[in-house]
Amino acid sequence: MHGIRKIFAIGSIVVCFAVLVYAQGDSKEGETIFSSKCTACHTIGGGKLIGPDLSGVTEKREEAWLKRQIKEPDKLLAEGDPIANGLLKEFGVPMAPLGLNDAEVENVIAFLKGSGEGGETQVQTSSYFLPTLLISFLIIILFTIIGLKSGRKNSSVTI
Ligand code: HEC
Repeated sequence: MHGIRKIFAIGSIVVCFAVLVYAQGDSKEGETIFSSKCTACHTIGGGKLIGPDLSGVTEKREEAWLKRQIKEPDKLLAEGDPIANGLLKEFGVPMAPLGLNDAEVENVIAFLKGSGEGGETQVQTSSYFLPTLLISFLIIILFTIIGLKSGRKNSSVTI
């Protein structure tokens, strides 16, 4: 009984740690995508280039809108989206679709969130804290249930 609990406790700590590391990897990958595919037209806090300064954009816009703007800006414009069309008027050129897949779009958004004001520390606290906490809790609960079940099996054998 005791041994099993110990194994599950250690197991859940390891999983939580893995989730944390994984979440940080997301934003790192987003940074790579951003610097290779977006910096020709955007800065974060450095002013306008061909496109708008993206500092604070994750607070200014809905996440679903951001995803579409990054993944398929041409479709947003074609649908007559008022924000996209307003930006087009302001900047004179439309943003071209860059062919990113959903995971890449999410990584870039994670990076944009983190690079708001607090830099790296914000990545860890604001954008990842809650989801990581939730996932960790779910995993701990799952491990506890599994642990209790196998504990019960053991005791029924000894009785
Ligand atoms: C060829 C230049 C160009 C590239 C490359 C480009 N953008 Fe844009 N982007 C624009 C322009 C111009 C606008 C404003 C007009 C529009 O929305 O079509 C814009 C608008 C945006 C907006 C909306 C900003 C706001 O204020 O709501 C976001 C978000 C954005 N781009 C993200 C990205 C990301 C992320 C990348 C890289 C994956 C990227 N862009 C690459 C030119 C570009």
